[in-house]
Amino acid sequence: MAVADLPEESLRTDSAVVPQDAEPRERRIVVGVGGGIAAYKTCHVVRNLKERGDDVRVVPTEGALNFVGAATWEALSGHPVSTTVFDAVDEVQHVRVGQEADLIVIAPATADLMARLAAGRGDDLLTATVLVATCPVLIVPAMHTEMWQNPATRRNVEVLRGYGYTVMEPAHGRLTGKDTGAGRLPEPEQIAELARTLVNGHHVDRDWEGREVLITAGGTQEDLDPVRYIGNRSSGRQGYALAEAAVQRGAKVKIVAGNTADLPTPPGATVIKVSSTQEMYDAVRLHAAESDVIIMAAAVADFRPASSAETKMKKGGDTEAGLQRIEMVENPDILATVVARREEGAVPAETLIVGFAAETGDEETSALEYAQAKLKRKGCDLLMCNDVSGGGVFGQPNNQGWLLGKDGSVRDIADGSKLDVAVQILNGVDTLK
Ligand code: CTP
Repeated sequence: MAVADLPEESLRTDSAVVPQDAEPRERRIVVGVGGGIAAYKTCHVVRNLKERGDDVRVVPTEGALNFVGAATWEALSGHPVSTTVFDAVDEVQHVRVGQEADLIVIAPATADLMARLAAGRGDDLLTATVLVATCPVLIVPAMHTEMWQNPATRRNVEVLRGYGYTVMEPAHGRLTGKDTGAGRLPEPEQIAELARTLVNGHHVDRDWEGREVLITAGGTQEDLDPVRYIGNRSSGRQGYALAEAAVQRGAKVKIVAGNTADLPTPPGATVIKVSSTQEMYDAVRLHAAESDVIIMAAAVADFRPASSAETKMKKGGDTEAGLQRIEMVENPDILATVVARREEGAVPAETLIVGFAAETGDEETSALEYAQAKLKRKGCDLLMCNDVSGGGVFGQPNNQGWLLGKDGSVRDIADGSKLDVAVQILNGVDTLK
């Protein structure tokens, strides 16, 4: 059965969220650069955005040019670079650049630059550009931990969020010099990904503040011996993107991560690393009761070897005990257990539970029908279904599918980056409130 065959009242789509331009045009993105050492990483952000086909114009502050010179920004963006409102005055740059922008990304945003933006100053080309702009503004702070935690900076972050700007959480890790802590610029791919989601028309309001979100991500691995395991193709990208979107909405996010591609931690989220299904089950059971939303994006092994050999198994020899015949036992169903614990009252009744299903259809049954049966069987509130016939999705940057509700609703999840999809799934969770 195709989606079009479903009863009309069960069809609800989110497609209005994404503006469907008849003729997609090159988007104009202004990248503002503050005077911090992390400016060198912003070169990769500019390159990443340019490679996706957007027109990028770099507006550094005077201080930023101490770290990366104008020639680099001009070569990367293909546009001349000015820092002051007194360059090319006849072109009225301080107004035009902001008026024409579809998105402004400021990375790194130093404590001083954020203070100037919060105060509404317009004393250089970048701050003047922000004052004029009506497009989304993404601010990516980077500074030492002490500066990030300073009450003045905390207040400025709140003020900037109050203006409707998106302020990313900084990453935790190695800073300039010997110190380690919060204040590191997120990875260029993470910044570019969020920038694209915003320029694609997705809004990320901070309306999940105070919410606890638990997300499983990646694939579990079941050990056969010290060398081998049984695993799957999940990269964890969709789970990490969900974490990123939930952090941007202000939630406190924990990721229970199995095996993932080499993904950077979404700034602001906590990662609990696990390997086997049993470990994932234990971690989810431990944190489920304190969670307001639980999203199970992990690809979980349904079976594991009955025992894991202490020494490497040999291919020859006794076939009963060797690699030719492996006895498997069933793993716990984490999602079904969490739903059951909610019914028993061990997990609050208000906790919202979202499952995932990567399905392939066959001649008799479509992927969507299999997913609808799975939603009933698992008893969760929402189920995100991907049709993975043909090997799409796994490890790929994009995703799409349907979000099924336990009330029988089916909403289209439009094709987009995994972060675009994550934003749409969280919007689907909002409809359950
Ligand atoms: N899941 C889980 N624990 C398991 C298996 C699956 O929590 N032991 C979760 C997954 O994280 C996902 C959902 O259940 O959110 C559906 O996973 P899937 O593997 O499609 O479900 P199965 O019940 O294993 O169904 P199938 O027979 O199609 O493999």
